[in-house]
Amino acid sequence: MRDGLKLFYHLKNEWVSIVVDCRSQQPSIAYFGEALGNVNASMLGQLDRHEAPASLSAEPVISLSPSVGTGYLGHPGIALRKAPNRWQFNPRLVSCEASESRLALVSICEALAVEITHYLRLDRNTSVTELTTHIKNLDSEARVSVDRCLMTAPIQDHLTEALELTGRWGYELQQNRFPLPASSVVRENRTGRTSHHLHPSIRLLSTTTSLHSGDAIDVQLAWSGNHTTRIEQLADGRRLVQAGELLEPDELELDPNTSYTSPSCFFCFSNEGVSGLTQQWHRFIRARHEPVNALPHRTRPVQLNTWEACYFEVNEATVIELIDQAADLGIERFVLDDGWFEGRNNDHTSLGDWQVDRSKFPAGLTPVATHCHSKGLEFGLWIEPEMVSRKSELYRAHPDWVLGFSGTSLIEARHQLVLDLGREEVVDYLFESISALLTETPIRYLKWDMNRDIHQMENAVGGRAVHHQTNAVYALMARIRKQFPHVEIESCASGGGRLDMGVLQHATRFWPSDTNDALDRVRVQTGFLSMLPPELMGSHVGPSPCHLTGRQHAMAFRAGVALWGHMGVEADIRALDESERAVLEAAINLHKQHRLLLHRGCYIEHESSAQQVSWSVVSADQTEALSALALMETPNTAFPKRMRFLGIDVAKQYRVNLVWPQELSAAQAQYRDSLQANTFGGDWLQHAGLEPPIMRPESILIYHLTAI
Ligand code: GLA
Repeated sequence: MRDGLKLFYHLKNEWVSIVVDCRSQQPSIAYFGEALGNVNASMLGQLDRHEAPASLSAEPVISLSPSVGTGYLGHPGIALRKAPNRWQFNPRLVSCEASESRLALVSICEALAVEITHYLRLDRNTSVTELTTHIKNLDSEARVSVDRCLMTAPIQDHLTEALELTGRWGYELQQNRFPLPASSVVRENRTGRTSHHLHPSIRLLSTTTSLHSGDAIDVQLAWSGNHTTRIEQLADGRRLVQAGELLEPDELELDPNTSYTSPSCFFCFSNEGVSGLTQQWHRFIRARHEPVNALPHRTRPVQLNTWEACYFEVNEATVIELIDQAADLGIERFVLDDGWFEGRNNDHTSLGDWQVDRSKFPAGLTPVATHCHSKGLEFGLWIEPEMVSRKSELYRAHPDWVLGFSGTSLIEARHQLVLDLGREEVVDYLFESISALLTETPIRYLKWDMNRDIHQMENAVGGRAVHHQTNAVYALMARIRKQFPHVEIESCASGGGRLDMGVLQHATRFWPSDTNDALDRVRVQTGFLSMLPPELMGSHVGPSPCHLTGRQHAMAFRAGVALWGHMGVEADIRALDESERAVLEAAINLHKQHRLLLHRGCYIEHESSAQQVSWSVVSADQTEALSALALMETPNTAFPKRMRFLGIDVAKQYRVNLVWPQELSAAQAQYRDSLQANTFGGDWLQHAGLEPPIMRPESILIYHLTAI
């Protein structure tokens, strides 16, 4: 049965090697890391350890899908069931289709009549490898329950630390680094969405790995539903990482002759520290999502969002006034957030009734869109399709359309319930409602929100919904994108609750957090940018005091932080005083002047501390860079630490301009003038660096470097 199978397969490119060991019945990853020259079978054989005391004579492999009964005693990567006495899964590798960058490894378990195919695809231009597992039920009669399907890989011994992206609503994507314990690290998300506190990824590092040096591996799952990432140390000392969808018993059943493909699990390697991973991800995502990005608005328009300006108090007169003022500020897209639909005067009501509230917009939304166009703006709309308010026409007509939990009352969160997207009629209703809006009014952008966890997931047939619900959301987004290819989708879930590479197949922007506090945003943005490129990062200039934290920040700080992503404004611009307005306008201009650099360049995080954070975006040809220095708190020295400009060309000569803030202290102005009077070697800027001027806490400086 093993005809044509090699003992091992070695996929490699200039960045990385992945060696798959096929010597046993089950394929396993023998190596993932630094690109290797030649690999032979005896090298691989040397990895087999001799018998340990009180152990099996041959150490069981940590296969891509390890299961019980094979000798392996760790957390199973796969668990299937056909009947109480039909769960013994013992697959044998039977064939492999291999090309330079792809493997399809087919295994069959005859007892259970199941075929497993592991697909590995090494990206040609980065160190990113995509792994998926395909499970096929070969039975002509029995169904199979897929209880678990986690991609599993051993971790090299020198990677003894992990870094997770964690946080909470209003403060997402915080980086937490910790040493790996001798037991297990279990990250299980059951929120029914990607979650605010458990990003579906884990970063593996050695103790000496830093921002810019050392080995680092990321494991990232492209999935917006329940998920698991685990790290485990076995009794024999080997460690492994697992990632996959979190499935509850009977949540996923395969009919005879049907199959399941797991969400993609991406592995990424860098020998240049954490920052090297960032470079790899950004390049990979930019290349992979080119079709999504190649929308008419490749240049991302600066937008105004009404949420923190008006909350639910939107109406035609107010938004026309906002549009006029937005146009004067140079804003290019107007996004009408929550509050525009029938009866939606607060968050207790109306979700599901996606008809325009005629008491607020007597002639519908078309006059608003037309007014936007007359002022050179495009029009976007907020929507939360997966939800329904109990107080709504939709719920009154179809109380049975929601997910629930038999025998108990429905749990409302933000006064809303979750629609059961497993029902075709629900999906059709949503598709038709959204289509009607997009057909009636020239809407170019949907902010697609999802404002609650799924606490009760029982669907119409009494099953567990999250797996199907997640796929149904993807399918609905895809259906809308197909029908309305000019419409972009932003993924938002109470801020950054649905921010992952799964939904990225349908979305062109993420809303990373509901906080517009510039200080907190610096940290949120650093976490975001460690994996995703800046053009996907919604970043808005919020009001002061900040509505979430109560902190007050100068407009120069708020705008200077917001201009690094896909810039927007989310404050009542009618209430700005003259000087704030002037600063905001200048920041918008600065963003527009440099947005191609910001949205296509190479982002590099510099060495940071609790007191100061700095970063650069450098053009591909290294002729230009924009660099920031944010002072986060009162420094305990008079001057901030010296700033080294990373990522530029050490062989080039640069002119350095301090372009932000516009208003400088006398000492800062002198400093700016002296910079302008000189030129600097790239080697000097990168290795020796520049002394910053004295800064106030909670302020930001932006430098622009141009090669001469
Ligand atoms: C969520 C979003 C906000 C806003 C509100 C509207 O909280 O994250 O940006 O759209 O919903 O209700």
